[in-house]
Amino acid sequence: MGIAMIEPFIRTFQAKPFIESSMMRSVVVTGCTSGIGQALTNYLAARGNFVIGIGRDARKCAATEKAMTTKHPAGLGRVITADLSKVSEVRRAAEEIQQVLGTQGKPSLDALVNNAGVFSSWYITTSEGFELQFAVNQLAPFALTHFLMPVLRQSSSGRIVTVSSGSHQGAKLRWNDLQRSRRYSGLAAYQSTKLMNLLFTLELSRRLQATPYLQAYAADPGLVATDMGFKGTDWIGKSIWAWRKRQGRTPEESAPGLAFLVNENPPPPWSLYWLDGKPITPSRLAQDSQTAQRLWKELERMTGINSSDYGLVA
Ligand SMILES: NC(=O)c1ccc[n+]([C@@H]2O[C@H](COP(=O)([O-])OP(=O)(O)OC[C@H]3O[C@@H](n4cnc5c(N)ncnc54)[C@H](OP(=O)(O)O)[C@@H]3O)[C@@H](O)[C@H]2O)c1
Repeated sequence: MGIAMIEPFIRTFQAKPFIESSMMRSVVVTGCTSGIGQALTNYLAARGNFVIGIGRDARKCAATEKAMTTKHPAGLGRVITADLSKVSEVRRAAEEIQQVLGTQGKPSLDALVNNAGVFSSWYITTSEGFELQFAVNQLAPFALTHFLMPVLRQSSSGRIVTVSSGSHQGAKLRWNDLQRSRRYSGLAAYQSTKLMNLLFTLELSRRLQATPYLQAYAADPGLVATDMGFKGTDWIGKSIWAWRKRQGRTPEESAPGLAFLVNENPPPPWSLYWLDGKPITPSRLAQDSQTAQRLWKELERMTGINSSDYGLVA
């Protein structure tokens, strides 16, 4: 059933069969100042990738950049400060990334990892009027992917990897209330954004069909012992996360699985969703192409982004 639903999107690799290991790839990792994104940034920089990170806190960004360039001078990474809960900041970050690539003499961006994420026990509205989890976890990946499309298209083997979660299983979308303003539950809102990550990737992949050298994947990092559940949560959320965290693996253990999607060519047939370098099956709803197309149109409307302006034609 699952394969049948995604059959139209199964594509063989017409690009180079393997990414040349000697090539220094340029990679953007959002949410690089803690947890999974920080571990991935270190992992990629240690292997000679040129990493541009994004974080929301200027001091943490400076510390992350210093640590990266001290430990891995060959990578010479950069970290940009931007609050990804605002589309205007996402746009500015994308412009800065293109400037950094330009000063490094790199015309292309080889991979974008949409990793930054938040959980919030409370319904919080951003200054642009969106619910916080929806804005950071889904609107930002949608907008950043568009704004970076010109440089991603310059890569001979480009990747857009969006970090979803096993918690999307069982999630539903409320079409008349996508941001869950009514009877808000932090967990349900989080789970629906993680479902959106998969639907976004499914539709992105369909829109990239004519561009086989550019591939989109969603990743499950597994249960990882980060501090995510301690930020923006009430005491119940913190208590549950303290218990869950004890069962999680380290961020360093989750990094290779994500780096695999950034730097390796997963074997065909194309799969939407990966964990530790192996294809896994998302929920049935996450494989529904009509739902994915409908969500995409909503995201275009909300952000004011016209996908065809970026070559992502329906
Ligand atoms: N941990 C898990 O078990 C797990 C499981 C499945 C999926 N995931 C997913 O993995 C991703 C990373 O989560 P994590 O566990 O590593 O959490 P984390 O440790 O809290 O890291 C999240 C990163 O996103 C950044 N961030 C948050 N809001 C931002 C904003 N408005 N603008 C820019 N950056 C922002 C954070 O900055 P600060 O450093 O300033 O907080 C941090 O760098 C998320 O997408 C999450 O949904 C996690």
